[in-house]
Amino acid sequence: MSEKAYIKLNNTELELPILTGTENEKAIDITKLRDQSGYITLDAGFKNTGATKSAITFLDGERGILKYRGYNIEDLAERSTFLEVAYLLIYGDLPSKDRLEEFRTDIKSKMMVHEDMKMFFAGFPSKSHPMGQLSCLVGALSAFYPESLNPNMSEEEEYKTIINLIGKMPTIVSWIQKKSLGHPVVYPKKDWGYIDNFMNMIFGEVNCDKVFDDAVLDAMRVLLILHADHEQNCSTSTVRIVGSSNANLYASVSAGINALWGPLHGGANQAVIEMLEDIKNDGGDVNKYITKAKDKNDPFRLMGFGHRVYKNFDPRARIIKKACDDVLEKLGVNDPVLDIAKQLEQAALSDQYFIDRKLYPNVDFYSGIIYRALGFKSDMFTVLFALGRLPGWIAQWKEMRDNKEPIGRPRQLYIGETEREYVPLDKR
Ligand code: CMC
Repeated sequence: MSEKAYIKLNNTELELPILTGTENEKAIDITKLRDQSGYITLDAGFKNTGATKSAITFLDGERGILKYRGYNIEDLAERSTFLEVAYLLIYGDLPSKDRLEEFRTDIKSKMMVHEDMKMFFAGFPSKSHPMGQLSCLVGALSAFYPESLNPNMSEEEEYKTIINLIGKMPTIVSWIQKKSLGHPVVYPKKDWGYIDNFMNMIFGEVNCDKVFDDAVLDAMRVLLILHADHEQNCSTSTVRIVGSSNANLYASVSAGINALWGPLHGGANQAVIEMLEDIKNDGGDVNKYITKAKDKNDPFRLMGFGHRVYKNFDPRARIIKKACDDVLEKLGVNDPVLDIAKQLEQAALSDQYFIDRKLYPNVDFYSGIIYRALGFKSDMFTVLFALGRLPGWIAQWKEMRDNKEPIGRPRQLYIGETEREYVPLDKR
C-alpha cells in the first residue's frame, strides 16, 4: 500500500502522496496543495523543500555519502578522469573508451576562444575580482554563439553548446589569471589533455611550456572531480531556476557563477585561507577565533566549517585533507597555515558548540591550501571551484530541460502594508 500524508486544515483533511526515492528518501508531494486548499508552505532557505526529482547526485548528510550517478566519490576521485566524470554526470552513464575519446577530442577542439572576446575583456580593471570577470565572459559567450539561444535546439546543437562551454572555460580562466599578472595569454595546445593544457595556460609562458610534476596534475584532477556536482545547492539551484525560463546555457551558468561567488558558498575557499592568514598574523591563537565564532554578537564564522546537508562529515573534505598532505609532501612545501588549519580543526571538533551543531570541516577547508601550494592566488580559488562545478551545472540544466520542468517561481507570504493612500509630494 502506498504511503500517504494527511494535513488537517481547520475541519478539512487533505491527503498528500508520499514519494520514495531510489535511496529510500521520502518526500511529501505538495504539488496540488495550493489548488486544493489555498495554502502554501513556508520554508526560508528551502531547508525542507525538494525543488526537483533528480537522478544525478545522491548525498546522505548523516552518513557522509556522496555519489555521482550511483558511483562513490571515493572511487571516482581515485581512478577516474575529470572529463570521464563530466560525461557521466551530463549523460548518465560512463562512456565507452571510444565515446570518451570522441568527447575529449570534441572538447579539445573547442578550447580556443574568439579573439573578439579579448576586446571587452581588456576593459576590466586588472584588479577586478576573477569571479566577476568569469561570470561576464561566460555570459558573453552567448553573443558569439547565437544558435545556442534557441530553447528548442536539437540534441546535436545542445551537445555542441555543452562541449563548447567545457572547452572554453579553462581558457577563459587562464585569461583572467594572466591579466592579473599583466602577462600575455598562452593558447591551448591541440594535443594536450584538459588538465595539463589548463595548467600550462595558467603557469606556462608564450613559447615556453611548463612541465608539471604528476603530483600537481593529480591534485588538480582530484579537486576538479570532487567539486563536479553537489545536487541542489545555491549555485546549482540558480542554474536550474534561470534555465527554467528557457534562458540559454551560457546565461544560466553565468548566473550560477555569481551564486557560487558568495563566501557562504564557493567563496568560502578564498575566505578560509584569508582567515587562516589572519589567525597566523594575529599570533596563531586558534582558541581566540573559536571563541569569536561562538559569540552570537560577533559576525565572525569559522569559514570552511558547517554545511547545510552534511551533519556528520563531508566526504570531500576527507579526500582533500589527504590530498593536501600528499601534495605538500611531494612538492616539499611547508605552509605555516596548514598547521593553523590542523589546530583549528582539532579545537573545533572537540568543542561542545561545534559538536552540538554538527559543524565539521567542509570541502573548502583544505582546498585553498592545495591551490596555494600549486601556485594559485587566493582570489582565483573560487574560479577553480567553478571550473570543477561546470559539468554538474550543465548536467542539472540538461536534466531540467529533458524533464520539461516548469518555470521556477516560488510563492511568498506577504507581510507588508495593505492599502495606503498616496499623497503627492507637494501635499506632504
Ligand atoms: N561558524 C560558527 N557557527 C556556525 C558556522 C560556522 N562556520 N556554521 C553554522 N554555525 C552555527 C550557526 O550560527 C547556527 O547556530 P545557532 O543554531 O546557535 O543559531 C547553527 O550553526 C546552524 O547554522 P545555520 O547558519 O543555520 O546553517 P545553514 O545550513 O543555514 O548554513 C553554512 C550552512 C555552510 C552556510 C554555514 O555552516 C556557514 O556559514 N559556514 C561557513 C561558510 C562555509 O564554509 N561555506 C562553505 C560550505 S561548503 C561549500 C559549498 O558547497 O558551498
